[in-house]
Amino acid sequence: MEKSTMSVIVLVLPLFVLHLQYSEVHSLSKNHPHDFSYLKFVYNASDPELEGTYDYIVVGGGTSGCSLAATLSEKYSVLVLERGTIPTEYPNLLTTDGFVYNLQQEDNGQTPVQRFVSGDGIDNVRGRVLGGTSMINAGVYARANISFYKQSGIEWDMDLVKKAYKWIEDTIVFRPNWQQWQALAGHGLFQAGISPHNRFSLNHKPGIRLTGSTFDNHGTRHAADELLNNGNANNLRVGVDATVENIIFLNSRRALSAVGVVYSDAKGQSHQAFVHSKGEVILSAGTIGTPQLLLLSGVGPESYLSSLKIKVNHDNPYVGQYVYDNPRNFVNILPPKPPKPSYVTELGITDDFYQCSISMSNYSTPPFSLFPSPSYPLPTSTFAHIVNKISGPLSYGYVTLRSSIDARVAPNVKFNYFSNPTDLSHCVSGMKNIGNFLRTNNLKPYRAHPHLPGIDGFNFFGKPLPKNQSDDASFEKFCRDTVASYWHYHGGCLVGKVVDDRLRVMGIDSLRVVDASTFPSMPASHPQGFYMMLGRYMGIKIMQDR
Ligand SMILES: Cc1cc2nc3c(=O)[nH]c(=O)nc-3n(C[C@H](O)[C@H](O)[C@H](O)COP(=O)(O)OP(=O)(O)OC[C@H]3O[C@@H](n4cnc5c(N)ncnc54)[C@H](O)[C@@H]3O)c2cc1C
Ligand SMILES: *[C@@H]1O[C@H](CO)[C@@H](O)[C@H](O)[C@H]1NC(C)=O
Ligand SMILES: *[C@@H]1O[C@H](CO)[C@@H](O)[C@H](O)[C@H]1NC(C)=O
Ligand SMILES: *[C@@H]1O[C@H](CO)[C@@H](O)[C@H](O)[C@H]1NC(C)=O
Ligand SMILES: *[C@@H]1O[C@H](CO)[C@@H](O)[C@H](O)[C@H]1NC(C)=O
Repeated sequence: MEKSTMSVIVLVLPLFVLHLQYSEVHSLSKNHPHDFSYLKFVYNASDPELEGTYDYIVVGGGTSGCSLAATLSEKYSVLVLERGTIPTEYPNLLTTDGFVYNLQQEDNGQTPVQRFVSGDGIDNVRGRVLGGTSMINAGVYARANISFYKQSGIEWDMDLVKKAYKWIEDTIVFRPNWQQWQALAGHGLFQAGISPHNRFSLNHKPGIRLTGSTFDNHGTRHAADELLNNGNANNLRVGVDATVENIIFLNSRRALSAVGVVYSDAKGQSHQAFVHSKGEVILSAGTIGTPQLLLLSGVGPESYLSSLKIKVNHDNPYVGQYVYDNPRNFVNILPPKPPKPSYVTELGITDDFYQCSISMSNYSTPPFSLFPSPSYPLPTSTFAHIVNKISGPLSYGYVTLRSSIDARVAPNVKFNYFSNPTDLSHCVSGMKNIGNFLRTNNLKPYRAHPHLPGIDGFNFFGKPLPKNQSDDASFEKFCRDTVASYWHYHGGCLVGKVVDDRLRVMGIDSLRVVDASTFPSMPASHPQGFYMMLGRYMGIKIMQDR
């Protein structure tokens, strides 16, 4: 009864509702070319101009780092040090089609997509370019689950949170146009039982919705690097090809404090930069980069650091521990009439799992980390990649060093997917829901053999979904066999374990962490909105406290 009422509303009222919600969400941004105005304050790491003393040094010009640096520059001098280069050198970063193209590129040590294989044997990637991972991601934009804030260990000023989101959304977030496959997938998920239909909204809450994107409707990528344009150009310097190797500490009788950093340029030459006495070094190098840098700087488990012959500056057993990655489980279908390629804009959300789908062209080389391993069979025409992400997860692993002296050597990372049985049961419910989705009327035209019953009519490539919806054992096996990374890894420097409720590294003065490494759970189905907001928010808080 309730459901049929709901579908009537969906059919009759969408225009009204869209209009209402749209004005609630303010204007967002309008299509425009990627704005590189900030290049006027970008320097090569080899430029001696960069060395000096600043109020703040932000390590990592990524998703959180750019919004943080731009904000602090409103009042203070800021140096951003980013190991990657500028995005203009890789034009494919700037288009929707480039998303998969970049995942296919070889990693030569400088390219924007850094590849790695986790200790779980699963292919994965991270950003290595100004703009960070927001420059290589799938563009889906959401605000955090409203309950997330209460459980984060931080007292939030929710008014400031809203303003911080708006600051980002006005610059780089767009309301996506209609795309055939996305609209179809959204309705299919609704027919499969995910409800209500929330139309267009940026808010993470149960139901189906069209969400925001950092891709505009001309197919241009926007990303965190453009937030640098909102800063004060007179106060802001960005060094690229600048790999931070170490934090420099001053150990006075009173306290241990961070006073600067050592960084190297593309030729391996070493440089230094310092912070003024009331200044800070702020790490925004991400879930993998931030713990790595703390460990390299002698902040971490004492016995572990000693075993690597790293001088211990501060003992903390939790640095690099509690590192999480949400598994991505999926099916691929090859419909008889290939859908037009689309980027993800429609989401289906329950408390336990989040679903979305993308339709993509066929490939001649496997896009690294789109599939769990390089031996995965390749599609021969345009296909739909239908994915499930579990909430949480509860399973976690660690980041440890592979080199104790060189920040360029990627650390070891292991996530231990599904080591906690709750994660596996969430995956099973999510994949069964994909079974329901495939069985909806909406998906009928996408069956290769329409006369066959159930999901038999689909042309799957890669592992087909188990046919028997009550056979949990087969679904559990399916979940383990198809696990890939959702690329939303987080943790390693958790609030309450490594940093305090102001994200200051505990036991050390003038050192903070602002990025995805600080929280043990997912802010939303897609976290980049929260991480960009976090940079803006913390920047304002730091200025207020000073
Ligand atoms: C393929 C892919 C698709 C994704 N899709 C989405 C999506 O659609 N929506 C969404 O919300 N999220 C998505 N994500 C996740 C999201 O992009 C990340 O969670 C988020 O960008 C992480 O932000 P961060 O600031 O913690 O790290 P990053 O943005 O990675 O920033 C860290 C920066 O620090 C730099 N760095 C690291 N070490 C050093 C060092 N020693 N010296 C100097 N610089 C250093 C890095 O080069 C990088 O630029 C995706 C991720 C990937 C990989
Ligand atoms: C920085 O300078 C080095 C030479 O010192 C060069 O190889 C590199 O390409 C330059 N990077 C950028 C982004 O211009
Ligand atoms: C929102 O967060 C709360 C608290 O972590 C969680 O219980 C709930 O399932 C989340 N909701 C969604 C839709 O993810
Ligand atoms: C991709 O698909 C098109 C038709 O959709 C086909 O002509 C082409 O050969 C395919 N390419 C590869 C690499 O399989
Ligand atoms: C489906 O799986 C359940 C649970 O394993 C089993 O009891 C049932 O017989 C299976 N049905 C079919 C048609 O195989």
